[in-house]
Amino acid sequence: MDAGLRRHDTGFVALSALNQAIMADTDLAAQIKAALADVEIPGGGDLATYGGLSEIIVTPGAIAFAIAVAPGMEAAFGPARDAAHKAAQALGGSRKTMVSLTAEKSNSPKFGHGGVQPQGKTRVNGVRRIIAVGSGKGGVGKSTTAVNIALSLAVEGLKVGILDADLYGPSVPKLLGIEGRPAIRDDGIFTPHEAFGLKAMSIGSMLVPGQAVVWRGPMATSGLRQLLRETDWGGLDVLIIDLPPGTGDIHIALFQQTVVDGVVIVSTPQDLALIDAQKAIDMLRRMSVPVLGLVENMSYFIAPDTGHRYDIFGTGGAEKAAERLDIPFLGPIPLVMSIREGSDAGTPPVSSQPDGPEAAAYRMIARRLISAIP
Ligand SMILES: Nc1ncnc2c1ncn2[C@@H]1O[C@H](COP(=O)(O)OP(=O)(O)O)[C@@H](O)[C@H]1O
Ligand SMILES: [Mg+2]
Repeated sequence: MDAGLRRHDTGFVALSALNQAIMADTDLAAQIKAALADVEIPGGGDLATYGGLSEIIVTPGAIAFAIAVAPGMEAAFGPARDAAHKAAQALGGSRKTMVSLTAEKSNSPKFGHGGVQPQGKTRVNGVRRIIAVGSGKGGVGKSTTAVNIALSLAVEGLKVGILDADLYGPSVPKLLGIEGRPAIRDDGIFTPHEAFGLKAMSIGSMLVPGQAVVWRGPMATSGLRQLLRETDWGGLDVLIIDLPPGTGDIHIALFQQTVVDGVVIVSTPQDLALIDAQKAIDMLRRMSVPVLGLVENMSYFIAPDTGHRYDIFGTGGAEKAAERLDIPFLGPIPLVMSIREGSDAGTPPVSSQPDGPEAAAYRMIARRLISAIP
């Protein structure tokens, strides 16, 4: 964790702020709010009655709230944030306390609710390279591809982690068969899950099944930041980040704050026809994030009974699209029943059969990534 960023950035939001609807401890929230009456804020007054104080969320594992301030007031509110953190911590027992400072940009169409913009991009402690996996839209197999690429990189002998940045549709726990919450150390740092040799973090493992994440922009970006920066990754060669679909606040915040060594764009043949992926690529270029190339998922169909290959969408379309977009084509992944079944069962093909035919496509892509990123 780096103190410099801690000071500048939006702070911390509850990852485990999750069970609010179901397990909220309203008494404790009221006690904390009462304690915040002793916290002074810039310009006079106290935090408990300050209009920018969010709801105080209490779960069995966490306490979280946000303080919204006017742009430029972040530093001035720093001491109040720290005092609020201390007060909440004192009442919360073993819960992890997360107090986030968010500055709303009043009229910045580009960044929307992006929160405080930090000074520059930094690397993540304990992580040498970050490769993000993105897509123009959801349902194209981005998470499946991200998980299997991560496993393939591990097969090549690298130390690999995966971070599920799709806060609104986390699927990494299911794909890797992860159950339960990650452990939290005494100093508040997460110990990631381990599955098939990967270190994994996802908001999904902190939610009650069926529960949705309801954070607005600044809370979400702060939450992601915490998953990324307050996890003990323990020395990774590569961290794969499974991005949310499209181009939103989470992407912008991540790419502004963090050195991402490159992004893999996953697309289906239909998606390519509509060039939804183009928008994602456009944003990456504008944010100076290298595009490593295009993966065509569900490229062709392998019949489970006969093993025959059917090019239901024709062939060569993705390569042409990659050419048109001026990015490398990283390879096709077939539409195979066993990929879906293995993914649903928490045993992705590269983990169960690293030398099998389904794994081959992912492993080839992983080798291309290794040569693209030293
Ligand atoms: N190559 C593939 N062959 C068969 N099914 C796939 C393949 N890739 C993804 N799927 C299935 O498609 C669905 C969507 O995949 P997912 O990775 O969750 O997409 P996204 O992350 O883009 O929303 C899942 O049910 C997954 O198992
Ligand atoms: Mg997904």
